[in-house]
Amino acid sequence: MKSFVRLFICLLIAGHAQAQSIDSLLARMSLIEKVGQMTQIDLSVLVKGGYCNPVEPLALDEAALATAFGKYRVGSVLNCACGSGSKSPATWNFLIDGIQASAQSHGLMPILYGIDAIHGTTYSSKGTLFPQPLGQAATWNTALVERGAEITAYETRASGIPWNFSPVLDLGRQPLWSRMFETYGEDVHLCTQMGLAAVKGYQGASEQIDDLHVAACLKHFLGYSASLSGKDRTPAYLAERDWRDLYLPPFEAAIRAGARTIMVNSGEISGIPVHANPRILNDLLREELGFKGVVVTDWEDIYKLHINHRVAPDFREAVKLAILAGVDMSMTPNDFRFNDLLIDLVQSGEISEDRIDASVKRILELKQELGLLEHREQNLKFPFYASADFKSAALQTARESLTLLKNEGTLPLAPNQSYAILGPVNHSLTLINGAWTHTWLGRDEAAAQEHGLGMTLAQAAETYAPQHRFSSPFFKGYTLSKEDRKAIKKASSVVVCLGEEPGTEVPGNTQSLELSRAEIDYIKAVAACGKPLTLVLFFNRPRIISEIEPLATAIVYAYLPGDHGPQALIETLIGENNPSGRLPFTYPQSAGSVVHYDRKHTEDFHSDYSTNAYQPQYDFGFGLSYTTFEHAHLLLSDDRLSDTVYAYWTIQNSGTMDGYEVAQLYMQDLYASVTPSVRKLIAFEKVFIPAGEFRTVRFAIDRSMLSLVNAQNQRVTESGEFEIWGNLGNRKRLLVP
Ligand code: BGC
Repeated sequence: MKSFVRLFICLLIAGHAQAQSIDSLLARMSLIEKVGQMTQIDLSVLVKGGYCNPVEPLALDEAALATAFGKYRVGSVLNCACGSGSKSPATWNFLIDGIQASAQSHGLMPILYGIDAIHGTTYSSKGTLFPQPLGQAATWNTALVERGAEITAYETRASGIPWNFSPVLDLGRQPLWSRMFETYGEDVHLCTQMGLAAVKGYQGASEQIDDLHVAACLKHFLGYSASLSGKDRTPAYLAERDWRDLYLPPFEAAIRAGARTIMVNSGEISGIPVHANPRILNDLLREELGFKGVVVTDWEDIYKLHINHRVAPDFREAVKLAILAGVDMSMTPNDFRFNDLLIDLVQSGEISEDRIDASVKRILELKQELGLLEHREQNLKFPFYASADFKSAALQTARESLTLLKNEGTLPLAPNQSYAILGPVNHSLTLINGAWTHTWLGRDEAAAQEHGLGMTLAQAAETYAPQHRFSSPFFKGYTLSKEDRKAIKKASSVVVCLGEEPGTEVPGNTQSLELSRAEIDYIKAVAACGKPLTLVLFFNRPRIISEIEPLATAIVYAYLPGDHGPQALIETLIGENNPSGRLPFTYPQSAGSVVHYDRKHTEDFHSDYSTNAYQPQYDFGFGLSYTTFEHAHLLLSDDRLSDTVYAYWTIQNSGTMDGYEVAQLYMQDLYASVTPSVRKLIAFEKVFIPAGEFRTVRFAIDRSMLSLVNAQNQRVTESGEFEIWGNLGNRKRLLVP
């Protein structure tokens, strides 16, 4: 222990920025220090007031620091202290510098700080907020997602934080699930591409993560989103073939692309909590996928093996199960029982020190790569924090996410007329941002106004549509107020924006996808006024609109577009932005018919045995534009696949407005050894086409794009006939020998 302290002091004195030899560091560490490195605690444990009771303004508590760093040698801290929200980068740096100084004074190497910056730098004041990931996926534009992640990394680093618990690579196939908005939607290919873009943006393109980038954390490995009930952290029932087919590919691709860390699924798959499953955390992740980075638990999840999952009769057994399964770091996060128990388990010989060393080595390697071991001079300035350039990236992402689902000539709204914007979203920044915004649940309107950069819809309407007379009365509940009626009377057309209370995890659980009776009656009352009606939907997940859809003459799905969403929406309503979002999920028409576009043929059978049971409200990949695109017939370069076959076709913007179209390529495996999907997305490209012009899209198809997971759980491409088609739908046969 003493020699370890001396080693660090020497380094500091010399002011060296040289790389440490991880092995020599490890050799000098005591067991307490090693277990400390495997521990992550919440910031609130270190501040005055104590766990979940922080006293504002946050101040570090000397006694707590001495326990965490002096006694337990803790190596990692997370979050913004529950209950406490966003802070300025200066406050963050002040707090984290204080933490690092304390760690150093206790002879510890620097702390690894992690945070959930899942749609921009969510806990830093006046940072750049992007649409939540589901909206990002709706852009079908990987360049925007990569740029967004790059900006998020920069602004997270500006707050002194080098590790981001993002991206969520769970598939959003269960709309009841409270975290659907955190996903890139239901499709494997779209999610994979978005995940790759996010990892590249967060970590940068070079081999090493530099000071302007952060380590990404893929979460929540594996099958977290597949809970049968849709309630957060409840059981998923997935056979190996299922998770290999659907849930694994986005993680696998991101691991192969170099993602540095992974967070474990808090739930269970078929009776085995993932935190206690060595077949997932070791055999699959380490042996098969060759993952070399750090595996962190989710919140308190080792203890939950005992408390909630009940596979461990006590905390000691819980720690043993998780560490032997393959966990490197415990997001403990609010006490030190994990440390005492793990030390005891090693001392009693139930867990070998070699097992501990393997995890600590991975954690030290991550710290080294993030520049923490070198005591690099941290004189970095972040002049672009919240810059106009960053705002315009977030704004463009919001613009390209907005998905026009219906338009009977209502939009765009003509200038020099009066319009009413009604509903709960008008004066709210929480309803456009959702959870993980300034606070965990994102429900604090005052915090959103204080720390956000956004304008409300009402303000955006005034600012960005000076030639349109919008009136945006305050929302007084789901009965038409006097002000609502006055606004409707004057208006040539009415816009109603519906929202959903921000929420995530267990507090975001819902009983139903249906809208409330009050919301439905409100829409009916507005529609009864006889004006053209545009519905704008700011939902955490697709909510059932079948009863009100016929009453609307236009519908825009807005997701949770972030601070710059209102500007993007106003520009879209008045035709300054041509909407180009496409649904990253299948929009169900009724709560009892949640069927995905890549369904099986048997799911097409109706009760009368006709095969048209797939009747979503809107199809996956759907979205309208203010212009029209004509897709020519798809052609294949060959009707037999040797190495690569090219699929190509021409798209004409046949309307009068420039716009983006999303070319989508689908395949169907006609007969296979396991039931094939009716269709699967295998490639896409977003293309900008000026009015009147043509563009040709060309996709290379190789065998891997036509693969399936067979009954032996192997990913293979079987020989046989396939059909390939694009947006127009004309199908070409492709023989795979
Ligand atoms: C969530 C994770 C998050 C972690 C840290 C957990 O409750 O499930 O997604 O990264 O908290 O805030």
